[in-house]
Amino acid sequence: MEKEVVVSGIRPTGFLHLGNYFGAMRNYVRMQNDYHCYFFVANWHSLTTHPDTKELRSSVYRVIAENIACGLDPEKVALYVQSDIPEIAELYLYLNMLSYKGELEKTTTFKDKVRSQPDNVNAGLLTYPVLQAADIIIQRAVKVPVGKDQEQNLEMARNFAERFNYRYGDVFPMPYAFNYGNELIKIMGLDGNGKMSKSENQLSTLYLADDDETIRKKIMKAKTDQGPETPNSTKPDYIQNLFTLLSLVSKDDVVAKFEQDFNASSAGNTIIRYGDLKKQLAEDMIGFIRPIRERAAEIQADTQTMQKLIKMGAEKARSRASETLHIVRQSMNLNY
Ligand code: TRP
Repeated sequence: MEKEVVVSGIRPTGFLHLGNYFGAMRNYVRMQNDYHCYFFVANWHSLTTHPDTKELRSSVYRVIAENIACGLDPEKVALYVQSDIPEIAELYLYLNMLSYKGELEKTTTFKDKVRSQPDNVNAGLLTYPVLQAADIIIQRAVKVPVGKDQEQNLEMARNFAERFNYRYGDVFPMPYAFNYGNELIKIMGLDGNGKMSKSENQLSTLYLADDDETIRKKIMKAKTDQGPETPNSTKPDYIQNLFTLLSLVSKDDVVAKFEQDFNASSAGNTIIRYGDLKKQLAEDMIGFIRPIRERAAEIQADTQTMQKLIKMGAEKARSRASETLHIVRQSMNLNY
């Protein structure tokens, strides 16, 4: 059977963190053997919120290098930069004629951005979901490994694809968000407020580029409390978050011991030591992040290799994208 096509994109708007790793990159790595994978750096999308391009190149390089360091094999997948694929921009143009101002204004991400950057409500921000749809359907993808926050963008991508098919003929399959077994792991900031973030909340976010001492410091400062009031308490979310992290990077028996200590603790009989838990977590986290950080730094520093990789990715992505665009032009009678 022909392998299914998968597309996903990461915006290069800052440093990749543990949330990106466990929410997206780990799934990419799992998918690379079973699917035709197209993974890209969404640098056009980043211009909707980050018009300053001084640091864009190094961000793009870092995202590519970190994905490889996390286990993506650039020989197996197409790993590319969005702006290297002009076919996406052309399809975006056609899809723009099939998308309506009203529906675009209603999307939650747009409304959020209007609130967070009222001085720069540009048209690119409004048509962000159109560009994302073009990213996906230019490869005629059916699976898109993304987090829960992308459901609405995926639904819009299906709408645009469906409208195109209805008007011009059956060109695009419907793309759906995909994750292994629905066990999407949510990783909160270490201060217990919101998610880890590429650019905000930096002291509470663990980045794949953090050095050992930074990791240690951030984890030791993570929010805790005096311990549970009663045995077998439900964990407050910031404590649950530490256990989640522990379960991701520590050995099973280590996690089990802290679980046991937590469940046996009550007011006046605090068996669990959050200080010890954090020390253990810090060391195991360092063991997890260090090899990724070191490998990524090595790859990123080698400009020649970076450029070769990026070119190879673009060639793979353009090969299928231009095929799609050929079909699109034919079905739209734009072939003169
Ligand atoms: N909007 C996505 C995000 O913020 C990034 C993205 C852009 C993307 N194009 C895409 C994700 C295509 C999946 C498929 O995370």
